[in-house]
Amino acid sequence: MLGRTLLMVLLALTFCSTWESCTWRNFITALEGEPFYLKYCPFSSHTNETTTIKWYKSNFPEDIALSSNSSPRIVPRGYVLEFWPVELDDNGNYSVHTGYSKYKWQLKVIGRNKSSCFTEKIVKSKAVEVNKRLEVNCEPGYYKNLAYRTVVYKDCMKIKDSEDSHIKKNANFTDQGYYTCVFSVDHNGKLFNVSKTFNITIIGGHSLISPALHGPNPEYVKVELGQEVRLNCSASLNKGDLIHWDVQDNNTREEQASKIQDKEGKWQASKILIIENINDKNLNVSYNCTVLSTEGIDTKMFILLKKELVDIPGHVFTGGMIAAVLASVAVVCLVIVGVIYRVDLVLFCRHFMRKDETLTDGKTYDAFVSYLKECQPENGEEHTFAVEILPRVLEKHFGYKLCIFERDVLPGRAVVDEVHSLIEKSRRLIIVLSKSYMSNKVRYELESGLHEALVERKIKIILIKFASVSDFTFLPESLKLLKSHRVLKWKADQSLSYNSRFWKNLLYLMPAKEVKACKDESEFLPVLSQS
Ligand SMILES: *[C@@H]1O[C@H](CO)[C@@H](O)[C@H](O)[C@H]1NC(C)=O
Ligand SMILES: *[C@@H]1O[C@H](CO)[C@@H](O)[C@H](O)[C@H]1NC(C)=O
Ligand SMILES: *[C@@H]1O[C@H](CO)[C@@H](O)[C@H](O)[C@H]1NC(C)=O
Ligand SMILES: *[C@@H]1O[C@H](CO)[C@@H](O)[C@H](O)[C@H]1NC(C)=O
Ligand SMILES: *[C@@H]1O[C@H](CO)[C@@H](O)[C@H](O)[C@H]1NC(C)=O
Repeated sequence: MLGRTLLMVLLALTFCSTWESCTWRNFITALEGEPFYLKYCPFSSHTNETTTIKWYKSNFPEDIALSSNSSPRIVPRGYVLEFWPVELDDNGNYSVHTGYSKYKWQLKVIGRNKSSCFTEKIVKSKAVEVNKRLEVNCEPGYYKNLAYRTVVYKDCMKIKDSEDSHIKKNANFTDQGYYTCVFSVDHNGKLFNVSKTFNITIIGGHSLISPALHGPNPEYVKVELGQEVRLNCSASLNKGDLIHWDVQDNNTREEQASKIQDKEGKWQASKILIIENINDKNLNVSYNCTVLSTEGIDTKMFILLKKELVDIPGHVFTGGMIAAVLASVAVVCLVIVGVIYRVDLVLFCRHFMRKDETLTDGKTYDAFVSYLKECQPENGEEHTFAVEILPRVLEKHFGYKLCIFERDVLPGRAVVDEVHSLIEKSRRLIIVLSKSYMSNKVRYELESGLHEALVERKIKIILIKFASVSDFTFLPESLKLLKSHRVLKWKADQSLSYNSRFWKNLLYLMPAKEVKACKDESEFLPVLSQS
């Protein structure tokens, strides 16, 4: 009898697909709000078309017969009792009666977890070994003719929304999780969701590895005295293996070991040793870390070395020194060039910035020229210089306005007063020095000028010495105190060009003024007639 039954079941499983959704178990759980069914599959061949099938719900003391008319929600359909959907009230015992047999179930309806896409109490748990086949079967089964859409969630995140909702792959550890298949089912124009959740656990392979510590052995760690160091001992090991430090020092402490499983299912552990307030005793001794397993043992040494505080690599040091020396040389050169070409730089800047300091001081002349007036053969050169060359260069070429006694002072006026007021109206006092300069006639010019310059500080003095004059002891003391750069030496043979140092220096001492030079005059025009 049993053999025949088994044969029947096998035949049925092979040829008749309706058998796959039979409800064999007697204790059944269902999820509130979802379509549900109980299906009886008769074992015997005695079934025939005319057999009457009756469904009952136990309701002590008497069973209630279920019919299509009693409730639109609970529908008997031959050997199947359908719920559209099942509700919490439907808890209880159900039975089916056919002519010659009776089958019984106990149904438990579970409340839905509103905050999740699945309800934990109704998941199917499944363990899959890593790298083995992982299959999540989202076939709608009994509802396959009604289901028109299947969505698959993993840990409530949608991962599939397509016709082919079957998941088949090689398992790795990231695949672990809850897989929920949701089928949308149409019943008399009303939509229902049927869900199925699998709790997939990925388990590691069974082979044990021999544990291994990471990093070089021994590992040297550079430290500073008084500081703290964290030594990280990490290993590949098996889940149950131990990792520990063999240390007794009193300025050390250990952190909790941490163990994680990587994607391939291998376990990695690490344990930190903290050495605080490092002292000499901590240096050059070994701190050992050990991993212990049934498969073996591995030990590693950490050794602390003192860090050299100034640890500049040789080439960096040499490079730095060379750069520093070059920089200083460059700075010194710049300063020297600046000093040598100070005059040129200042003139260039004046020209470039169109500086003009003569506009607002209310003075008429740029310079008052003081020189020896008696024109005697032995000092004719000085005279020519003062009344011809100076005005030619300064006035015609560089646009200054000079005050020259012979030319600008009208005859017949009180000479002393006139000279004094002219000096007051001038910005510079150019003294053309010659041997016989200190004659009576110029003494008052000089005194007046010196007074303006030294007492009133309203005029600046420019002293032009002639090469032929070597002894200036005759000059008043105050004039000897003049800063050396305010004293120019006239060298008739070297000062011919407008570009010569003499004229540049003179321009430098003159007030800044926008030059309106006559361009047609040659740069190298001899300023002194070579007769
Ligand atoms: C069919 O079932 C009825 C009653 O359930 C029974 O009387 C009849 O003999 C059955 N027919 C066959 C062919 O088994
Ligand atoms: C899922 O499976 C894991 C591992 O077997 C288990 O610890 C967990 O309790 C299961 N979760 C549920 C909701 O059954
Ligand atoms: C059925 O599930 C879909 C998502 O799969 C959801 O959008 C829809 O609201 C659900 N319908 C019901 C009646 O729960
Ligand atoms: C220790 O080293 C391991 C491997 O290098 C690393 O995975 C781990 O995060 C480290 N632990 C800490 C606390 O730095
Ligand atoms: C650490 O291990 C080495 C060899 O593995 C051993 O010579 C040394 O004594 C050990 N040190 C400590 C403090 O255990």
